[in-house]
Amino acid sequence: MGTESNISDEKFYNRKNEITLLKKLLSTLEENSSPAIMLSGIRGVGKTSLLKKIKNEMEKDYLIDYIDLTCIDIYQTGKLTKIDLINEFYKVWMETINNNGLKTIINKIKKYFKTKNFKIKEIISTEGYPIPLIETKDNYKKLSDFVLELPQKIYEQENNGIKGVIMIIDEFQALKDLANDLDNFLWLFRSVIQNQRNVAYIFSGSISSRDDMIEKIAGRKGAFGGRMLTIEINPFTKDTVYKYLKEKLPSLIFEEDGFERFYKCTRGIPHYVNTFAQLLEKNTPLDDKKIKKEFQNLLPFFAIHLINLWSDLTLREQKIVTSLSEGSLERKKIAEKLI
Ligand SMILES: Nc1ncnc2c1ncn2[C@@H]1O[C@H](COP(=O)(O)OP(=O)(O)O)[C@@H](O)[C@H]1O
Ligand SMILES: [Mg+2]
Repeated sequence: MGTESNISDEKFYNRKNEITLLKKLLSTLEENSSPAIMLSGIRGVGKTSLLKKIKNEMEKDYLIDYIDLTCIDIYQTGKLTKIDLINEFYKVWMETINNNGLKTIINKIKKYFKTKNFKIKEIISTEGYPIPLIETKDNYKKLSDFVLELPQKIYEQENNGIKGVIMIIDEFQALKDLANDLDNFLWLFRSVIQNQRNVAYIFSGSISSRDDMIEKIAGRKGAFGGRMLTIEINPFTKDTVYKYLKEKLPSLIFEEDGFERFYKCTRGIPHYVNTFAQLLEKNTPLDDKKIKKEFQNLLPFFAIHLINLWSDLTLREQKIVTSLSEGSLERKKIAEKLI
């Protein structure tokens, strides 16, 4: 039991239906259809853990690339541009290719940059792949076409060995930072993926289902032209949490009302369940009163989590919440306050 996302099989619990469904959808790659999936759910519910599990289990048959957009260095500074994004996509693909020992592709890529007269910024020496320098708009266009087409190209090169290519884009709400360039980027994405038959895309992020971003990607007029399937990951049910704790942390002894309270406090969100369960006293009966008291001690931890949730909201959503801080309002009144 832990709070990191790359959890081992031994710690990973349940999600059997979600795993079966995802695998089934992804395996349609074998019939040359490119599934596109949007995995949604609140922060801490287990999206990343699930995706990593799928990656581990399917990696023997598929080439899988996982990218967390909030891990791009530049994202932390709040200045993410489409060039950074393309560079990062490129880097992550190169690493995936390298880790899978696909040497011939690297040689082809080197040749490509040479013939297109790209300046090379550096060669990542241990792995041996070049990092091109983007100097002009034309460079950017060429490189982005190249990078977005790469997964299909890899498949065509390697199709004896793999059943398809899967690109997982986690924390995709970070794309919002592209601001005015977002539409342009998604348009480019759309024009390239339309011709791909052996690449699956999974977008995942802690984003509200009413967010504009979802429409821009998964909507009828969005980048995936309405063929995107949405899968919502829900918190664990009461029964699941009960069985989960009994199996993984048998030293927790709940009285009946203690467990009720525990579930109310954590709402079945695995991140909360794990955090709270680890901090509770072991081998002592826990009743409602005890859980309440422990929960209060833990509030500062949860406050951090709420701050993160807050930063995921759009400015408009934040304004709606603040407008309600002094009491409930009619929709019309909220709308007036937003102006
Ligand atoms: N299936 C699971 N079994 C056990 N623990 C889980 C499971 N899914 C998530 N967790 C726990 O919850 C934490 C948050 O999960 P994570 O996948 O990072 O959520 P999300 O990506 O939805 O924000 C993980 O670090 C892990 O401790
Ligand atoms: Mg995550």
